[in-house]
Amino acid sequence: MSQRRLFVTTALPYANGNFHIGHIMEYIQADIWVRFQRMQGHAVNFVGADDAHGAPIMIAAEKAGKTPQQFVADIAAGRKPYLDGFHISFDNWHSTDAPENHQLAQQIYRDLKKAGLISTKTIEQFFDAEKNMFLPDRFIKGQCPKCGAKDQYGDNCEVCGAVYAPTDLINPYSALSGATPVLKSSEHFFFRLSDPRCVEFLEQWTQDGKLQPEVANKVKEWFSVRDNADGTQSEGLGDWDISRDAPYFGIEIPDAPGKYFYVWLDAPVGYLASLKNLLDKRGEDYAAYMADPALEQYHFIGKDIVTFHTLFWPAMLHFSGRKTPDNVFVHGFLTVNNGEKMSKSRGTGLDPLKYLSLGMNPEWLRYYLAAKLNARNEDIDFNADDFMARVNSDLVGKYINIASRAAGFIAKRFAGRLGEISADGDALLSVLRDQSDTITQLYEFREFAKALREVMLLADRVNAYVDQNKPWELAKKEGMDTRLQDVCTVCIEAFRLLTIYLKPVLPALGAQVENFLKTAPLGFADAAVLLGSGHLIGDYAHLMQRVDIKQLDALFEPPAQAEQAPTAIESIAPGGEEMAPVITIDDFSKIDLRIARIVNCEAVEGSTKLLRLTLDVGEATLRNVFSGIASAYKPEDLIGKHTVMVANLAPRKMKFGISEGMVLAASHANEKAQPGIFVLEPLPGAQPGMRVR
Ligand code: MSP
Ligand code: ZN
Repeated sequence: MSQRRLFVTTALPYANGNFHIGHIMEYIQADIWVRFQRMQGHAVNFVGADDAHGAPIMIAAEKAGKTPQQFVADIAAGRKPYLDGFHISFDNWHSTDAPENHQLAQQIYRDLKKAGLISTKTIEQFFDAEKNMFLPDRFIKGQCPKCGAKDQYGDNCEVCGAVYAPTDLINPYSALSGATPVLKSSEHFFFRLSDPRCVEFLEQWTQDGKLQPEVANKVKEWFSVRDNADGTQSEGLGDWDISRDAPYFGIEIPDAPGKYFYVWLDAPVGYLASLKNLLDKRGEDYAAYMADPALEQYHFIGKDIVTFHTLFWPAMLHFSGRKTPDNVFVHGFLTVNNGEKMSKSRGTGLDPLKYLSLGMNPEWLRYYLAAKLNARNEDIDFNADDFMARVNSDLVGKYINIASRAAGFIAKRFAGRLGEISADGDALLSVLRDQSDTITQLYEFREFAKALREVMLLADRVNAYVDQNKPWELAKKEGMDTRLQDVCTVCIEAFRLLTIYLKPVLPALGAQVENFLKTAPLGFADAAVLLGSGHLIGDYAHLMQRVDIKQLDALFEPPAQAEQAPTAIESIAPGGEEMAPVITIDDFSKIDLRIARIVNCEAVEGSTKLLRLTLDVGEATLRNVFSGIASAYKPEDLIGKHTVMVANLAPRKMKFGISEGMVLAASHANEKAQPGIFVLEPLPGAQPGMRVR
């Protein structure tokens, strides 16, 4: 077969947190496919990048006291241990905030505009006048219009499940400032997906048989346009709002000051930007690469982002005169020990870095996930018992065992040389070789579970051959040397064939085996030949340990108190903690609370937690107070504000000086569950020195 040229990506993860096990699953699935293609001799460019833009990242950066650029750079710096640790063979990792992406996204926009597919419309949205910004749905909260539940998000109610518009909320408030949002109008830019050209193109692109059937069926529903009573269209291909107003962390829209691309406009362009960055570094021509009609382009994604990849993205590419993807491969979600689906921000259950730090073999996980993955968009569950059984009894018990049963005899009795093979051994090896095409097809169509099942059936046959011929008995009998070498040679040759079939899944093990067998890197074509009589193999060192139950216990041991998800009791206890025991009014009056004006506030060198406050409580001298609120406030945010302090607390000597009191702040008992520290501020009019009672 001639060499194929493949451009392969995984979804670009939001740069607002570390990878969770769901991300790693996606990378392992794509990596197995990519390594398989490379082993076929095809030329693959496999790229990823961080999805850096959007309001949530901008707000998270502000909370962390960093610029968005610094915030996403810090996240990016943490990617390598995961990718290397699980043997993910990306050729490049980039960022959607990189210059290539700014240029490409703006160019694609210009091309779409030229094609007459960009329009503008003035729309009304909730605006936070305190923060001076339009609020994304996620940052508007209020009472559910249906059931009255408090503190519900702007798009749906987590209590009764109702779906609504943010404007339907009762007593809406901004989750950023607490302010009551006001309606404000602004001009937005739209990609005119409702244009008949787009509809016709997308119906063809999504229904021509390339997509997984269940994906194509789902997509079909989005084409049925329904007109609402108020004249809007809620279903069908409505126009897509692609602009956001400043302040926004994103890419500026050309010739539209103060307008930025909505993050999902420039995110997939990041696939191209990462590829371009890679080719530029290699001195290859990006335009020429993309212009090759034989180039195949594939995106591995999860089921939650199908709309973006099967409608918006192909339309953006097609109508800007670019190549569209050859396919989009959709996988389901990974759950852990039957747990609920991992939320995007809070990947629970199995921490990938903890897995590695416990010395657990990354290829156990690759093998286990491969043994469960198929070409359908189905959820899969990581089950600890199942994991241990599959790795120990199949991977180690059936496959690794073949080498360990034969290698010692070849080394000790035959100076490491393979011998002649008789007819029965030949027949067995033919069976193994003949499965090469079937296994190739299964990998090609991402039926990894079926491929591994075939390989394990072959391993069963080899083990049956070993049990029949009992090399350990042959070794004790006079005059059976030739047969012993024959049987052990068959085992080693069989082991090599099985290694080829498993190498997309187990690349590091494959490399160890190549070293042990003294052979060049194995590709699928090598399954057609054998090492042959007289080939010298190396010393066998144990190739893979079994999973120890203690490792699994440690992996799933609940983390320390502070990191635990809220328990049932915590969720009943307001703010995550039980009420303190009752006190008398006399107890309370021992505490002298005073209004304080924050005259000055500054960072404390050498401490990431503390801020130094200079407080006026109406006395002749000012007070110096240290407060652990640096994670929540920038010094300049607090200067000039009034707050409440405990004024009769005994002074305390700290590393950075003496603290003469304490300012009051609210926080949830479990800061991980509900992050944030909120310093108290009196209503206007309160003067420094006034007592609070
Ligand atoms: N930034 C967007 C994607 C932009 S692509 C141009 C995004 N990021 S994400 O970090 O939320 O998700 C990245 C990928 O991880 C998606 O394909 C998503 O489906 C996948 N997964 C997130 N949780 C997952 C599981 N629990 N299981 C498997 N995949 C999961 O969406
Ligand atoms: Zn409700």
